[in-house]
Amino acid sequence: MKAAYAEHFKVGVALPSAVFSGSDRLAAQLAKAQFNRITAENETKWKAVHDGPAFTFSVADGFVRFGRRNDMEIHGHTLVWHTDQPAWVFAGKGGAKATREELLGRLQQHIDKVAGRYEGKVAYWDVVNEALQDDGSMRSTEWFRIIGDDYIEHAFRMAAAAAPTAKLVYNDYNMWMPAKRDAAVALVKRLQDQGIRIDGVGMQGHYRTAGEPTIQQVEDAILAYKALGVEVLISELDVDPLPYAWDKLGADVGFNTELRAELDPYRDGFPPEAEEAHAQRYADLFRLFKKHSDVIGSVTFWGLSDDYSWLNTWPVPGRTNYPLLFDRHLRPKKAWYAIMAVARE
Ligand code: G3I
Repeated sequence: MKAAYAEHFKVGVALPSAVFSGSDRLAAQLAKAQFNRITAENETKWKAVHDGPAFTFSVADGFVRFGRRNDMEIHGHTLVWHTDQPAWVFAGKGGAKATREELLGRLQQHIDKVAGRYEGKVAYWDVVNEALQDDGSMRSTEWFRIIGDDYIEHAFRMAAAAAPTAKLVYNDYNMWMPAKRDAAVALVKRLQDQGIRIDGVGMQGHYRTAGEPTIQQVEDAILAYKALGVEVLISELDVDPLPYAWDKLGADVGFNTELRAELDPYRDGFPPEAEEAHAQRYADLFRLFKKHSDVIGSVTFWGLSDDYSWLNTWPVPGRTNYPLLFDRHLRPKKAWYAIMAVARE
């Protein structure tokens, strides 16, 4: 797949430590054969490298080593997020919350250490992840409440200083929704107007087989970001074929609901018609990505094979899901063949 798309964009995959550490050797071989860029699914998040006041880099170092040994572009995910941040980050003295200055100091230390450690190795950083809500307003995170909305400016300035050669990205889901898209455009402009470096916009791409977004909606968003002069990354692509478990789209990790049989229809296998529709959706998306490969630098899948997908546990724990290109035996699915066919069109 990486060869088939070489003239268009890089093709990436998010890996868990079981794959990049080599304990799942077959999966590691498949990742090397198919993809030329990687993201750590969890292992470069704040909680993974900075859970207490001390930093723990051994697992993240292994991720970066895997990418370098295999000549893959390395994507760092993520320096600032609303979740998976340890509670101490926001705590002040005597049970109070941290002050703005304290929190900015911790952010500075984190970005210096983490982005600084991998300078020259990590090619892209998600500097801020998921700061916007679907209606375009700012998500009320601890960063926002304690520092104010300029926490984003601070984070990008710090990242530019710590990692001068890395490309700096704002990353979010539902980036096709018009209100959110317009807010993301305004956010990028706000940074650009202040002379703060931002190089890319990550459209996560947690989509579904049916329903929104339409291909037109995704295209409108790609063009809106392109007009800003930044690169577009399709940063966390998967296509969920299971029934809707709730009335919202996207990837809000805060949501969870109970397992009910009607929400888990493919426990015993993925029926051919459902697999065909799933493959068709991927083909439509890749046709669009190919059309806009002048601005899209990479397309990264959020997982290697169906058993590794986060969608087996979100938003309903315990479902059997089929969102990716390789099945539970690492065999290519119809979606893989469909994407390969689009490359030849
Ligand atoms: O590693 C622990 C394990 O020791 C423990 O026994 C188990 C019990 O819950 O939890 C394990 O950690 C889980 C971790 O994934 C590794 O599997 C966390 O609970 C779980 O919350 C975490 O979920 C990740 C989620 O982000 C939250 O960080 C998903 O794997 C990961 O796919 C997902 O990725 C996010 C992107 O970062 C941002 N965009 C949306 C995307 C999907 O939610």
